[in-house]
Amino acid sequence: MSESLPPAVAAAPSPASSEAPPRPAAEERQLSVIVPTFNERDNVVTLFRRLETALAGVAWEVIFVDDNSPDGTWNVVRDLAATDTRVRCLRRIGRRGLSGACIEGILASSAPYVAVIDADLQHDETRLPVMLAPLQRGEADLVVGSRYVDGGSADSFNRTRLGFSVAATMMAKWLLDIRIADPMSGFFMMRRDRFEELAPSLSVQGFKILLDIVATARGHLRIVEIPFVFGTRQHGESKLDSMVALDFFGLVLAKLTRDAVSLRFLMFALVGSIGLVVHLVTLGIVFELRPASFSIAQAIAAFVAMTSNFLLNNVLTYRDQRLKGLGILRGLVVFYLVCAVGLLANVGVAFSIYNHQPIWWLAGASGALMGVVWNYALSSLFVWRRR
Ligand code: GDD
Ligand code: MN
Repeated sequence: MSESLPPAVAAAPSPASSEAPPRPAAEERQLSVIVPTFNERDNVVTLFRRLETALAGVAWEVIFVDDNSPDGTWNVVRDLAATDTRVRCLRRIGRRGLSGACIEGILASSAPYVAVIDADLQHDETRLPVMLAPLQRGEADLVVGSRYVDGGSADSFNRTRLGFSVAATMMAKWLLDIRIADPMSGFFMMRRDRFEELAPSLSVQGFKILLDIVATARGHLRIVEIPFVFGTRQHGESKLDSMVALDFFGLVLAKLTRDAVSLRFLMFALVGSIGLVVHLVTLGIVFELRPASFSIAQAIAAFVAMTSNFLLNNVLTYRDQRLKGLGILRGLVVFYLVCAVGLLANVGVAFSIYNHQPIWWLAGASGALMGVVWNYALSSLFVWRRR
């Protein structure tokens, strides 16, 4: 990549670099701090200064993972990186997602310990050395900054959000047999080697990376919780929206089925079942209101359902790689084609099963399952393919 950089960027030693503390040699670097950012330009410099104070005496580096923030956060981080070699910026284009950003950041690091901390100063960075100690002593694999143990709190939450947070925490702990108090925290530190073992099984979608780590490890991590007080956001706004709840349920379901079904597939199937309802409602309306022939009404209903499936998948299932502008039209046409072939596969499978065993519901359900698996596989290849 470096050969494509303009010489000024690639070669010029930054004027301030002589004052900056030297980057520790790789073999002595102890801690990589990963900071996911989206529209945090007013917070990153303050966070960096606070890390500097909190981590004096530790050989550390910080990797900001920015999803091409419209406010240019990556620009601010780039400037910071130019003056201090402990700072790196990973700018991801065409992708969104807190968990995915954390995973990439951690995998780009090489220190024995990694921490994840929010950029908005809501996590208490002064706890970092306290969190590092049990890891360095070899007493823990994972240290969680916890709001729900003695000494911790989430006072800055409004009532509704606190209610949701507590309910989701209880549900996850019960369903996934998780023993720690705050699996929904976004503030934690762990051994990088343990993380790398789990990384291939983690979901890049969603917000709950710690929950995913703990659920995927199935009791094989030694976990210590350190209390912290969840602060108030100073600048910018939270990116948590109602979609986060959907991601959360998907993650819990995926972990319950031992990853047999992925979060994305579940969403795709859910959208498919909404599509069935859309289809039947449209069919009913067209058939009742207009004296059209049944096959024309059925065809119209199929188009409406495919279109709504496409749009829903674009905002829900593939929210992190949503098609925009003209891409939507192109995607829609390809989606129609994929679904048309999926329908043939569906009918073909149902027909051959019915030929062997004339049980209508078994044949019908197998056909439908075949259709949804086909549509899912092909549309993730051709409609929402990774750029
Ligand atoms: N790269 C990237 N991509 N970063 C993101 C994205 C994204 O799509 N979405 C959010 N972030 C970054 C934000 O910029 C911030 O630094 C951090 O992730 C947390 O996002 P917030 O939007 O501030 O989330 P929150 O404060 O509502 O939620 C926090 O508290 C929860 C506990 O209730 C997070 O720490 C959650 O992880 C945590 O579960
Ligand atoms: Mn926040």
